[in-house]
Formats: sequence, structure tokens, C-alpha cells
Amino acid sequence: MTPAVVIIGSMALFWAAFLGVVVIPTVTMPDRPSDTWRATSAAEERGRRLYIADGCVYCHSQYVRPQDWAEGAQRIARAGDYARQQPPLLGSERTGPDLSQQGGEHPDDWHRAHFTNPRHTSPASVMPSFSFRSAAQIADLTRYVQSLGGKDADLRVARQQHWKGLAVAAYANGPDANVAWIHSKVPEVWRKMPNPYPATEASLARGQRIYELYCVGCHGPSGDGRGTAQPYLDPPPLNFALLRRNLIEGKYIGGVLYYQIMNGITGTAMPYFKTQLESAKIWDVSNYVAYNFIGYVDYPLRTDQIDAAYENAEPPPPKGFVKDQP
Ligand code: HEC
Ligand code: HEC
Repeated sequence: MTPAVVIIGSMALFWAAFLGVVVIPTVTMPDRPSDTWRATSAAEERGRRLYIADGCVYCHSQYVRPQDWAEGAQRIARAGDYARQQPPLLGSERTGPDLSQQGGEHPDDWHRAHFTNPRHTSPASVMPSFSFRSAAQIADLTRYVQSLGGKDADLRVARQQHWKGLAVAAYANGPDANVAWIHSKVPEVWRKMPNPYPATEASLARGQRIYELYCVGCHGPSGDGRGTAQPYLDPPPLNFALLRRNLIEGKYIGGVLYYQIMNGITGTAMPYFKTQLESAKIWDVSNYVAYNFIGYVDYPLRTDQIDAAYENAEPPPPKGFVKDQP
């Protein structure tokens, strides 16, 4: 091979790559906004600058790929979603969740607690604390993440605000009226759905682990709603002891817990866990909450009381436990 062939060959390779990754995409993907795109406000733009300065992009992508349906994605990214963004913040690391549809996933008070210290709302989080940012800067960052998803995000944010108004008003009516209001949103079929999983020792141990990983920052170690996130949240996290005197039809049904943990309570900081916890884990943590904080479980503690259970019989339940079988 002569030097001329090496030089001309490498130049040809370079320009072929340039044509493939720069020229063709630039020509075929005009800067035309997608159906959900909208212009950003001044506060959102300030938040975007902070997002770049604080290195959020090193942990968060803003690009839902076609293979991300399994992660619970709502919308696959389109070229027009990034129109007029300089630079587009696609990101390549996915240490944290993808944020391209983040707007309206949580209400603002959740973000205030989370940016101050992510462990407040997500006890096992590796995201750094941004408490060195001023309240005004955290507000700008919040406006920015609430805008992600464009017009779709605006609809979700409006829904959060609508329900926030109702949730705050219900909380102001006193603890029992508040619980009654929350329960009035649980569909009839779930109010009657007993827990299909026995609250065995193993289930309660799994439930405790899940509670410590996901719930303790808000509801607190004793379930009284006084986790470290509590000062930031309005309405504050629920004190589970209240549910003892607010039983439904004389008992506390696992399905009521399950429904709320699965879907969250829109307008409050209570997040949905349907994309983070599989069904069995939601029942386990429901068992843990019901057994430890409400003192009532609607399914046997002993697998030998279940027809066709494959597990071995368990020792009898501890004393002082209220049991009711479906
Ligand atoms: C070291 C990696 C890391 C950095 C840097 C980081 N995050 Fe996170 N982020 C995470 C992880 C992990 C989670 C999931 C656990 C949690 O909720 O904290 C998360 C969660 C989030 C969530 C909640 C997502 C959801 O759907 O619940 C938002 C919003 C968020 N981060 C925004 C930001 C912003 C804005 C910045 C920069 C100011 C940032 N993050 C910096 C790792 C990171
Ligand atoms: C970021 C804070 C936060 C986290 C994390 C959180 N919750 Fe909540 N939770 C709340 C708030 C706020 C409410 C509703 C308060 C209100 O409207 O009065 C609530 C309400 C509930 C309710 C409704 C109870 C009822 O019957 O009325 C249940 C059940 C519940 N949470 C369980 C859990 C479980 C289990 C976890 C963990 C898997 C969890 N929560 C994680 C904040 C949180």
C-alpha cells in the first residue's frame, strides 16, 4: 500500500462517515416541531441551564427508545421533540430514569423534597443532593423538569394541580374526612378485593425491605407519616394509624392498599409504583403496612389454611393479631 492510497482511502472513509452521520440526518430531519413540542418559558430555560451546569445529563437520558416499552414508557421519542434545542440533551447514561416525559409525573412539592435530598422521597437513591442551589434555582429546575414532554406534560401538570387543590382541601377538613375522601377515589371492585397472598413471615420480611427502600422517607419508620420528606409535602404523607379507625365495611381490605400503591394519589406526593414494583411486591408491602401499622390483615398468616398451597405449613401467628378471612 502506498502513502497516497492510505491518505486518500482514510479521507474517503472520513467523508463517508460524515455523510452518514451528519449530512443525511441534517437533510432528512428538518427542525420541524413534533405534535407535542412547545416553546420553553424563561424560567424553564433557566432551569435547563442548571440542568446542564449540574451534570444531570450524566445520569439522565431524555430519549425513550423503541425497546423501552418494557420500562413503562408512554411515548417513543421523535425527532421533532428536540426542535430548536441547542444542545439537545439526549444523554447516554441511564443511571436514573429517562426524563423526556417527566413533566407532571410528580407534583411540585415532591420535586422540592427530592431536589433538596433525593433520599427524602426515594430512600435508596444515588442521585446527589442539590440543596446547595437556592430556593429560586430549585424552583427553576422544577419548572424545567415539569416542562419535559411538552404539551403532553402540560396536560399532566394541569391534572396534578387540579387534584392538588382537592387533596389540600380534603386534608384541611380533618384526618378522618381526608381518609374518607381518599377512599372515595378507590373503585368499587378494588374495595372488595382481598389480598391473594398470605401474609406469612417471609412475605412480611419482604414487605419490610420494600418499605425501607421505597416508603420510609415519607411515611416514616413507624408509619406515622413523619419521614424526612414530611416538612416539604402538602398534604403530608398519611399516618397509617388513622386507617385503624377508618376501616372499610368493618375491615381493611388489601385491595384498597394495593390500588393506591399501584396508582399513587394524583395531586399528592404519593407516587405510583406500577413501573417500579411487580404485583407480588405490592401485595407484600401492603401486607407489611396492614400488619404492622393498621393491625389488620385480610388473608391467613398460615399457608396450611390455603387449599392447594405448595408451601409448608407455617408456625401459628404471633399474639394480638386481628385476622379475618375472605
Ligand atoms: C449520579 C446520578 C444522578 C445525577 C447526577 C442526577 N440524578 Fe436524578 N436520579 C438519579 C436516580 C438514580 C434517580 C432514581 C431515584 C430517585 O428518585 O432519586 C433519579 C431520579 C430523578 C427524578 C425523578 C424521576 C421519576 O420519574 O421519579 C428527577 C426528576 C431527576 N432525577 C432529576 C434530576 C436533575 C434535574 C438532576 C440535575 C440537577 C439530576 N436528576 C441529577 C440519578 C441522578
Ligand atoms: C414522596 C412521599 C411518599 C412516598 C415515597 C410514599 N408515599 Fe404513600 N402517601 C404519601 C402521601 C402524601 C399520601 C396521601 C396523603 C393525603 O392525601 O392526605 C400517601 C398515601 C398513601 C396511602 C393511602 C392510604 C389510605 O388508605 O388512605 C397508602 C396505602 C400509601 N401511601 C402507601 C405507601 C407505600 C406502601 C409506599 C412505598 C411503596 C408509599 N406510600 C410511598 C406520600 C408518599
